[in-house]
Amino acid sequence: MNLLDDAVSRLERWPALDALADPLRKATQALVKPRVVRNLLSGIPTGHPLHPVLTDLPIGAWSMASLLDTVGGESSEHAADVLVAAGLVVAVPTAASGLNDWSDTFGAVSRVGVAHAALNVTALGFYGASLAARKAGARGAGRGLAYLGLGILLTSGYLGGHLAFSKGVRVNRTAWHEGPGDWQDAGPASDLAPDGPSVVDLDGVPVLVTHDAGRLVALDATCTHAGGPLNEGTFENGCVTCPWHGSTFRLADGGVVHGPASAPEPSYEARVEDGRVQLRARR
Ligand code: FES
Repeated sequence: MNLLDDAVSRLERWPALDALADPLRKATQALVKPRVVRNLLSGIPTGHPLHPVLTDLPIGAWSMASLLDTVGGESSEHAADVLVAAGLVVAVPTAASGLNDWSDTFGAVSRVGVAHAALNVTALGFYGASLAARKAGARGAGRGLAYLGLGILLTSGYLGGHLAFSKGVRVNRTAWHEGPGDWQDAGPASDLAPDGPSVVDLDGVPVLVTHDAGRLVALDATCTHAGGPLNEGTFENGCVTCPWHGSTFRLADGGVVHGPASAPEPSYEARVEDGRVQLRARR
């Protein structure tokens, strides 16, 4: 284990962070409670989590400000100041989308998320102080504060990468479920519940099969958001709502109706032939 892995692993096991996480989660959940806010911050209009896209903006603005501070000379001072200010503005929606994603986590992942947020707030403070110093004519201090902010931001970025790539936060849990292009057997039809959902096995992938408006429909049983069991969810108005965080998907085609999930559920055509359930991926 390298030094960085060791430090992250300590963060994951540091229970003191829970004292910060609990009130922050409550406050965030209250803020994102309106459906429209939750859907927007979850990235439903784009079909992709919003936070990773937005992080490019402050990181890009602030890293370019430091580049201009370093090699741009006097003629670039105004541009560097504008970039520092722009980074402060775009950091607000970036933080909001990150908090929205973080609010569905718990345990070790939640603790790393708290550290990630705390570092980002610290970096924001340094950039705010940098802008104030620049406006006051203290350019050397302004540059120094921005360099410190950038160092903190990059450390925080490492934690953000850890959350996504090592812990799978906001990774589509069905990303590798392609489904068969041709009809495939999924067990005896007599195993299906007459009223309500059943789960069948399709090459090791659990698939939810149920009736909707008199027709057999099938979706992956694993929620794309964080892996919740959709077969244990609520079924109404042609949709299923995940029991874990409330993502809602259309039964007919797996489309996302409400977040926090941003990826649709893999959907299958379903039929019964000779007493056997058959499924094929809906393209
Ligand atoms: S696992 Fe989060 S909404 Fe389904």
